[in-house]
Amino acid sequence: MVRIINKTIVLKNLFPLNRRLHPSIFSLRYKSSEKDQGVEVKRIRNFSIVAHVDHGKSTLADRLLEITGVIKPGAEHAQVLDQLQVERERGITVKAVAASLDYTYKNEKYLLNLIDTPGHVDFSNEVVRSVSACQGVILLVDANEGVQAQTVAVHSLAKKNNLVMIPTLNKVDLPRADPQKVKTQLQSLFKIDPETVMSISAKKGWGVKELLEAVIERIPPPSVKSEGHFTAHIIDTWHDKYRGVMCLAYIHSGKVQVGQAVRWRSDTKQHQVKYLAMLRPSELPVESAVAGQVVMVGCGPKGGGSVGDQLLSVDVQNTSELAAIPPVKHMVYAGIFPADQSQHPLLSDAIKKLALNDSAVSVKAESSPALGQGWRVGFLGLLHLDVFTQRLLQEYKAEAILTAPSVPYKIKVKGAKIIKHYKGDEVIITNPLMLPEPHHIEEYYEPLVIGTIITPVEYIGSVTTLCIDRRGTPLPSNAVDDRMTMLQFILPLSEVVIDFHDTLKSITSGFASFDYQDHGFHESSLARMDILINGVLVDELSSIVHTSRLEYTARRLTEKLKEMIPRQMVQVAIQAVVGGKVFARETLKAYRKDVTAKLYGGDVTRRKKLLKQQAEGKKKMRSVANIKIPRNTFIDVLKR
Ligand code: GTP
Repeated sequence: MVRIINKTIVLKNLFPLNRRLHPSIFSLRYKSSEKDQGVEVKRIRNFSIVAHVDHGKSTLADRLLEITGVIKPGAEHAQVLDQLQVERERGITVKAVAASLDYTYKNEKYLLNLIDTPGHVDFSNEVVRSVSACQGVILLVDANEGVQAQTVAVHSLAKKNNLVMIPTLNKVDLPRADPQKVKTQLQSLFKIDPETVMSISAKKGWGVKELLEAVIERIPPPSVKSEGHFTAHIIDTWHDKYRGVMCLAYIHSGKVQVGQAVRWRSDTKQHQVKYLAMLRPSELPVESAVAGQVVMVGCGPKGGGSVGDQLLSVDVQNTSELAAIPPVKHMVYAGIFPADQSQHPLLSDAIKKLALNDSAVSVKAESSPALGQGWRVGFLGLLHLDVFTQRLLQEYKAEAILTAPSVPYKIKVKGAKIIKHYKGDEVIITNPLMLPEPHHIEEYYEPLVIGTIITPVEYIGSVTTLCIDRRGTPLPSNAVDDRMTMLQFILPLSEVVIDFHDTLKSITSGFASFDYQDHGFHESSLARMDILINGVLVDELSSIVHTSRLEYTARRLTEKLKEMIPRQMVQVAIQAVVGGKVFARETLKAYRKDVTAKLYGGDVTRRKKLLKQQAEGKKKMRSVANIKIPRNTFIDVLKR
């Protein structure tokens, strides 16, 4: 039997940061407040800040909150919109957060709805959802580092959504900042007129007021219908212990007020609006909200709500014209299991609640012989997976065991009806164990991505070698300026998802940046590789491998496992097997107890006899070996 030990992660502060305020503040609800009555659509601006990781989005958001009087200037307010514990610990934004700001410009009062978005590619879904409620974006670029891979990605997303862009250079206070060079990059890559580029220092507050006024001047008000029935689409949801599901809604037409009867598009059941608030970013309860606004809506514990759904006034029939949020494409799947089965209900509840807050995950029940009942969860990348499990622990005190992550594959099944399990001709395989026997498979497909890499020219050679080594196909490259170049490759997702970014950073001394976009499934030659430990199949370590890589992967996995599994009282044989054929084998020697220690001098046959007895004893133990595999093995073993 193979037993998996679960290492406990001890975190000092297990209490989640309260994302929203306690319901007691509802006693403060504005009666017929001027704030909700007086908003005219032409004075609403919905915008987002988009940029590469660490280019200063959250710092700029802080300055905007200060200028509009939401927070007082002061260092203790750093990155106010990064409210989750995981965001503060890691210094990254993982969750888009909205804030409604008031600002008076040329004696007119404006309502500015700002959405701060994450920069890392694993959370790009947050950006996609956010821009569905925006008419414009601030495209922020670090004047020190220049255009990076994620800048290219968010620029094309904004273009695709026909959003007005305000190109802005940040960190101009730094001595190495070169705004002129970055303006030239923006012009050569995106055809942005250098005259339209703003320059700011989010840290020092330089130019931020002018930027806010440019938002009012350049970004148009939402094109919505103030009259007519209430219709809205949901861009975010989260679970509140006392009030049930809370939604962030972008209102497309009409008006909504507390007590109004509404229904979900996906459901005919009638609900009542119980909570309505503007987020500043903490809740400011209001009695009503109008088209163009981004507001928090709650319909009570049984009121439901999910991202992408639409909330409608009960008399609306046809809603086809509302904007839809594109479906999420999961890049990696992993099994999540409770540390022991008695914790299954707790973990189940935590996953359900967290999935409400993180709409990018997909959750399906699964069971494993070694780990019991659990779930197969789809993520946008490894960082997303890591953050999800950390949030489970920190926000819900639910500890989980993870299995080796795998990208989804597709197969065409021969004579689909033979295999009961598979209904369709083409099947998506999210778990290597689901892969049928090779003779049932007509074709294999693997997911490809278009990878964009921006690198200094001196590293072009090593970056190209890395990409070719990862089975990449080069696409035409583009010069960013005389020092930097943009390379593009078609790469298999499986080669990118685990450690490509880390390797790229290390071979380019941290100067290259990477981003990727989905390129669909393409035909490939694949096989399932199993890992046997002392002859026992470890389900959680099975993987799907390209046939050109069988030997290499087998050797790498067995060697890595040998390093990672602690030595045991018995000898451990680690084998990588494909279709019954062993491709690699490693042996982890047992601890050797010195049974001859008690002997002093004397007869050599006595020594031999003791050693023989020990060897026989070990042989017996091997067959009942209880091999202990540390929990992080499943992910770490895949890294090169
Ligand atoms: P992610 O959410 O992780 O993508 O990061 P971000 O884009 O929100 O960047 P963040 O605001 O966290 O800033 C990253 C780092 O840059 C922090 O250490 C900031 O203090 C620093 N920074 C941001 N703006 C400026 C600036 O104008 N000047 C200087 N010198 N540093 C800045």
